[in-house]
Amino acid sequence: MFEDIERRLAELINTCEEPRLREAMLYSALSPGKRVRPRLLLSACEAAKGSYDATALDFACCLEMIHAYSLVHDDLPAMDDDDLRRGRPTTHKQYDEATAILAGDALLNHAYETMSRLCADFFRLRRPVVAMAIIAKAAGASGMIAGQALDLQCEGKKITLEDLKGIHKRKTGALFTAAMEAGAILGGGTRLFVQGMAKLGGMMGLAFQIRDDILDVVATHEQIGKTPGSDAKNEKVTYVSLLGLQKAEDTYKRLSHDVMALAHALPCKTGSLRELVAQIISREK
Ligand code: IPE
Ligand code: IPE
Ligand code: MG
Ligand code: MG
Ligand code: MG
Repeated sequence: MFEDIERRLAELINTCEEPRLREAMLYSALSPGKRVRPRLLLSACEAAKGSYDATALDFACCLEMIHAYSLVHDDLPAMDDDDLRRGRPTTHKQYDEATAILAGDALLNHAYETMSRLCADFFRLRRPVVAMAIIAKAAGASGMIAGQALDLQCEGKKITLEDLKGIHKRKTGALFTAAMEAGAILGGGTRLFVQGMAKLGGMMGLAFQIRDDILDVVATHEQIGKTPGSDAKNEKVTYVSLLGLQKAEDTYKRLSHDVMALAHALPCKTGSLRELVAQIISREK
């Protein structure tokens, strides 16, 4: 699965014509990330029908392109101003700010260009159209981008845990939910199955961001490939800043337990999704 994603991601981006832009897109998207979202999409598809096909693989790569763009922009001086990503200089450090902005824009656009081509090919089947609509909404101004906007607006402010949960659900949970929902739809899952997968995705996304907040405080830069302490530097409101480290860890443990329980309760055709969920929940990087 991982190798399929790497190969197809490179193939898709390599169709872009402008050399320097293409190089920055490849640098941003193919650097050594965990590929969590595309693997979730493909595993949800496998859980529904036992395997995944070329259409699902392309959708998975598109989701990773959208994620990669969000990271390139998240690291810009105007946002989190970070120098290190996936153990390498961030895109604006490796190239320059303008190139990073354009590479992010191009990755985002390339994802929709690719998905809409698949929708045109498969128009009679409808499923790719529904999957694209779900991803578009999740990545957009009421999903991930809204979360990023609120994350920045709340720097240095006092907000409640409920508010923070809302931010995390959008900035990170939205793409996780979309990965699971789109994967289940592309796999032909029933309405009930798709709903279950979407719920699991949302809970996992929230847990993932809480873990990310914790790792920003306790991990080394070798471990996470990012500069620890970035959240404190930017006065971000996080689970650790609101609850303290111990309570944030306790919340994470409780949520992880619920995530695993739900993963086991859902009727999956293969074991790959449960294995991936367990791996994500126990992540150290
Ligand atoms: C980083 O996501 C941004 C968050 C939502 C915490 P990942 O931890 O999935 O980053 P990569 O893709 O593995 O680098
Ligand atoms: C970013 O959250 C979430 C995105 C939508 C990119 P963070 O700002 O905490 O992610 P990292 O820690 O830089 O990866
Ligand atoms: Mg951020
Ligand atoms: Mg950041
Ligand atoms: Mg973070």
